Amino acid sequence: MTDRYAVFGNPLSHSKSPLIHMTFARDTGADIDYGRVEAPLDGFAASVEAFRAAGGRGINITAPFKLDAYALATRRMPRAECAGATNCLKFENNEIIAENFDGIGLVRDIERNLRMPLAGKRVLLLGAGGAARGALLPILEALPSILTIVNRTRAKADAMQCQFARFGAIHVANGDEVGPRSFDVVLNATSASLRGELPAFAAESIAPGALAYELAYGKGLTPFLTFTRSAGAGPLADGVGMLVEQAAEAFAWWRGTRPRTRSLIDDLTIPLE
Ligand code: ATR
Repeated sequence: MTDRYAVFGNPLSHSKSPLIHMTFARDTGADIDYGRVEAPLDGFAASVEAFRAAGGRGINITAPFKLDAYALATRRMPRAECAGATNCLKFENNEIIAENFDGIGLVRDIERNLRMPLAGKRVLLLGAGGAARGALLPILEALPSILTIVNRTRAKADAMQCQFARFGAIHVANGDEVGPRSFDVVLNATSASLRGELPAFAAESIAPGALAYELAYGKGLTPFLTFTRSAGAGPLADGVGMLVEQAAEAFAWWRGTRPRTRSLIDDLTIPLE
């Protein structure tokens, strides 16, 4: 019997999720159907319940429903719990189980695809919203030598530092406080690029050849990537690898088989130049 999955969001017109999951299904021989549900802004829970009642096995969740999905869950896995948000639900034995694969997808992309192990590296994370919260635990688990958070609203970064203190040491700084050449990896987890804006931080904090990673996918050379490149960053990346890797984690969680990701990442990559 065909197992049904879907991505929920609003708007959804540009979602690559159906393409990604149907490619995984083809490659692993899984009999699934993966649709898209543009739920009304005030009707997420009812839409999910209808999908579940019709035999749906699981869903991915994108903006603006990651918090609603978290609230709907009857059980939350540790990464979802830490992020306070979920991008993936599994329906099993009358339970709605919540996971968050965004951070693990990011770390897998950096470490395996971009070949930059984070252990011992100095990492700067820009932002303290949902995307940053989703990334934080997997980054700490990768054991960087230092993790500094810079956020426009300092109080939000301070709160995140307190909340995550039991998982590892986190520094919080203002953008102009970070020291010269202090970071090997700079991650933009703010939503500034969606409006063509640059999150403020000191250019000299970037070590020569540092990895600059824009979590948003498909925005081209964002102000962040342009700024970091002119400040001496080496490899530049956008979130295409993260997108595919988090989907692979979700697929494996639902189906028990982890699909290959390399050729799909290559297919979806839009050159940054
Ligand atoms: P998301 O789920 O995409 O993370 P969010 O939870 O609304 O969205 O968080 C947006 C993040 O981007 C926040 O850290 C925000 O900074 P503030 O906490 O100061 O609002 C950050 N952000 C958005 N626009 C920005 C800009 N122009 N410069 C710097 N930071 C920005």
